[in-house]
Amino acid sequence: MSIARDLQQQIQAAAEALRAGEVVAFPTETVYGLGADASNPAAVRKIFELKGRPANHPVIVHVDDRKHMQRWVRDMTADARALAEKFWPGPLTLVLSRAPAVSDVVTGGQDTVAVRSPAHPIARQLLAAFGGGIAAPSANRYGHVSPTRAEHVKEEFGKALKIVLDGGDCKVGVESTIVSCVGDAPRLLRPGSITLSQLRAVAPNLLTGPDPAAIRTPGSTPRHYSPRTPVNLVPSRRLVDVMREFTDESERVAVLSLRPPSTANKFMTWINAGTRADHYARNLYANLRTLDRIGAKVILVEEVPAGESWDAIRDRLKRAATKDSEVREHEVAMEEVGFEGDVI
Ligand code: TXA
Ligand code: MG
Repeated sequence: MSIARDLQQQIQAAAEALRAGEVVAFPTETVYGLGADASNPAAVRKIFELKGRPANHPVIVHVDDRKHMQRWVRDMTADARALAEKFWPGPLTLVLSRAPAVSDVVTGGQDTVAVRSPAHPIARQLLAAFGGGIAAPSANRYGHVSPTRAEHVKEEFGKALKIVLDGGDCKVGVESTIVSCVGDAPRLLRPGSITLSQLRAVAPNLLTGPDPAAIRTPGSTPRHYSPRTPVNLVPSRRLVDVMREFTDESERVAVLSLRPPSTANKFMTWINAGTRADHYARNLYANLRTLDRIGAKVILVEEVPAGESWDAIRDRLKRAATKDSEVREHEVAMEEVGFEGDVI
C-alpha cells in the first residue's frame, strides 16, 4: 500500500472518529491541534480532560470554508471579511460574535467564538472528510510547549490518544495570529506569523494590546508554552558571561542562541537557531523540547532582535520565561480586579 493511500485511509478513519465523538490530533501549518466535533459538547469536553485545561477556556473552531460560517458566527464584520479574504486559508484566527447554536463548551461561555481556516493539506482534507467544524486547541498538555511534530503529540499524550495524523514538521511553528473583530475596531489578541503591518494593510484601524473588556484568553495569561526547565532571557552581550556563571560551578546549562558558540564547554548544550525569524519560529518549540530534555539547571535564551517579524517569537519566549513568582503576583492582581479563571 502506498504511503499516500495509507494517509488517505487514516484521514477517513480520523473523520469517522470525529463523527463518533472521539478526539484526534492533526497537523496544521502552525502547530498540531487536538480536535473534536465542534457541534458535540461531550466530544469537546474530552479535549479539556485530555489537556487538563480549565473548562472556561475557549477553543478555536476550524472550518474549511467561509461558506459555512453562519453555523458558527452571527455577524461576519467587514474587517473580518477582508482579513479572511486575504489570509484564509492560513495562520489567522478571527474572534467574532457567536451564532446561537454554538456550545458554551466551545466559547468558554463567552458571547464570541474564534474561527480559523487552516492551510495545511491534511487539516483541509480532514475538514472536508468530516464535513463540520473541528474544535481544536494546540495538542499539548495545559501550559506545556506546543507540538510541531507528530512525535511531540505522542510524547504529550502517549496511549491516551489513538489517532495522530502525521504531517511532518509544521511550517510556521508558532500558533496563529488572533484578531478580535468584535467591538469598535479589530484588535490583535495574539501575535503570530502574520505581522502587524500585513494586518494593517487590510485593516488600518487595527489595535494592539489587551482588550480591557476581555481578559480570559489562556494564551494571554503570563506563563504559557513552558518547558519544565526554567527559561531565562539574556541580552546577547551577557550571554556567554551568564552561561559561565553556571558552567564554572559545574552546572549544566542549555543555550538557545542566534549564533554559533564561541567556545566549547562540557557543561553546555548550545543550539544555534540562526537569525531568520521564519526559521527560528519553525524550530522554536522543537528546540525548547530538545533543551528541556538534557536536564540542565536553566535554559538561557538569547534575546531576539527588535522588529515585527520577531513579535510572535518574542511573545512566546516571554511567556516561557515568566517566573512562578511573577505568575503568583499576576494571580493576586487578577483577583483584585475580580478575575475568576485560572492563571496557568
Ligand atoms: O495556531 C493555532 O491557533 C492552533 C492550531 C491548532 O490551530 N491552535 C491554538 O489553540 O493555538 P489554543 O487553544 O492553544 O489557543 C487558542 C487561543 C487561546 O488563547 C484562546 O483563549 C483564544 O484562542 N480564543 C479562543 N476563543 C476565543 C474567544 N472567543 N475570544 C478570545 N480568545 C479566544
Ligand atoms: Mg495552546
